[in-house]
Amino acid sequence: MTTPRLRIRGLKKSFGPKAVLTGIDLDIEQGTSMVIIGGSGSGKSVLLRCILGLVLPDEGIIEIDGEDVLRARPQRQEELRRRIGMLFQNAALFDSMSVIDNLLFGLRAKSSLHPRRDKEKLQQAAFRLLAQVGLDDSVAALNPSELSGGMQKRVGLARAIAGRPDILFFDEPTTGLDPIMSAIIDGLIVNCVKKLGSTAIAITHDMASAQRIGTQAAMLYEGKLIWKGAAQDLLHSGNEIVDQFTHGRREGPIHIEAAPTL
Ligand SMILES: Nc1ncnc2c1ncn2[C@@H]1O[C@H](COP(=O)(O)OP(=O)(O)OP(=O)(O)O)[C@@H](O)[C@H]1O
Ligand SMILES: [Mg+2]
Repeated sequence: MTTPRLRIRGLKKSFGPKAVLTGIDLDIEQGTSMVIIGGSGSGKSVLLRCILGLVLPDEGIIEIDGEDVLRARPQRQEELRRRIGMLFQNAALFDSMSVIDNLLFGLRAKSSLHPRRDKEKLQQAAFRLLAQVGLDDSVAALNPSELSGGMQKRVGLARAIAGRPDILFFDEPTTGLDPIMSAIIDGLIVNCVKKLGSTAIAITHDMASAQRIGTQAAMLYEGKLIWKGAAQDLLHSGNEIVDQFTHGRREGPIHIEAAPTL
């Protein structure tokens, strides 16, 4: 048996009295693109943030290539997490910086190049990243607020792949985009993952995207991953909860707080 690229066991996280993750177990083999679905507020972003080290879990194990991240020395934790690139929900670009400076920021954080001595190389790498996501040099000097939603996602993707990470996270990469732009961004994501040979986790509410990006899929519900399977089975999983969610049915086992009755 091979060691999974990512292995998670018994991961728990509460905020005050609110238990968000109550025991996540997940193996992601190298080269897999895992799609995670689940209701708003179910803890999908918190799960990614725990793996990234932005949220400290209460309990559990996170391993990258068999190495226990949470129990590693701080410097080693940093090294392991540098292998992860993330496209944040809402792209999360710095609005006070130009597009190219956003990319340079990502590159400085991830690559071994020296910020001053290798300035020229970093600049070239930043422009290469722009081209990789289908943007031309004319957007380099713009601020993210001057870009359309689709362009912002492209810049977010370019920043995520800076430093050629072998693990990529995408948090709702197509939310807010029209169906055609969603398909284009999904295509870029699939290309980037393939080119880098990365292992990916993508969170999405869009079933078309889920099937384009994912090879595997899992559903987060009431703090646990209650179903895992092939992404192509999402719409006919045979699991009542997954079926209700993926078909958007109001009636079913999923408990929705304060759902108004019309
Ligand atoms: N830093 C925090 N402090 C307190 N509560 C938090 C924090 N981060 C997340 N939460 C809570 O954890 C729960 C899960 O949040 P999370 O952002 O992971 O949801 P999500 O599944 O990503 O939802 P969405 O699909 O809307 O993005 C929410 O109730 C949220 O309010
Ligand atoms: Mg979220």
